[in-house]
Amino acid sequence: MLNPVLENIQKRRSVRQFNDKELSEADILTILQAANHAPSAHNQQSWRFIVVSVTKKQELAHLVNLKSPEFSRSSSALLRMAARSIASAPVVIAVVNTGELIRHATNLFSVDGENYFDFFRTMEIQSSAAAVENLLLAATSLGISSVWLGVLYLIKGNVLSLLEEREGEFMAVVALGYSEKTRAMPPKKSLEVKVKYL
Ligand SMILES: Cc1cc2nc3c(=O)[nH]c(=O)nc-3n(C[C@H](O)[C@H](O)[C@H](O)COP(=O)(O)O)c2cc1C
Repeated sequence: MLNPVLENIQKRRSVRQFNDKELSEADILTILQAANHAPSAHNQQSWRFIVVSVTKKQELAHLVNLKSPEFSRSSSALLRMAARSIASAPVVIAVVNTGELIRHATNLFSVDGENYFDFFRTMEIQSSAAAVENLLLAATSLGISSVWLGVLYLIKGNVLSLLEEREGEFMAVVALGYSEKTRAMPPKKSLEVKVKYL
């Protein structure tokens, strides 16, 4: 028997279409707080969350559709699918890396030579990914469905400028909403091929 945390982890699914039900402000705040509680390299919390709804969200969906023909068939199809998810979701949360960790890195500790930027940038990405996972799991625990839309990275410059985030680095866009449909768990590879015990 699984405890509630493990059960919630198992229950989470990527859901790409949502119904009209709005998210409450209290639930959005709870989700953001969970994301903000994630571990982060040097506790720099070098993320920002941009809550996008109503007009700006429709502008985002429109932008994604508009840019989609510029890409190969498969990327274009993924972008159009993402646009549909964004359009149907009552709320989208974008996650941006602020670069704070990279900027303050020299005060924290030194990493030699050319590895310096890569090291701290990777730490920022990993920290924000932890925040995104917290966000997804918090949503699941509240009965709210979600999907992480990484494909928007392909048009990250356009997305960041629409969101008025000219300094940050694109990390993720997550669509959130309610859905009556339940999805079976997609196939997950067995631990036998994923784990090595030494
Ligand atoms: C980094 C990352 C990027 C993703 N990008 C997309 C995306 O652009 N579009 C999409 O529909 N799903 C996207 N997903 C969701 C995955 O397709 C999904 O997690 C995977 O198929 C497993 O399904 P599950 O989340 O229901 O377990 C992304 C997931 C991750 C972690």
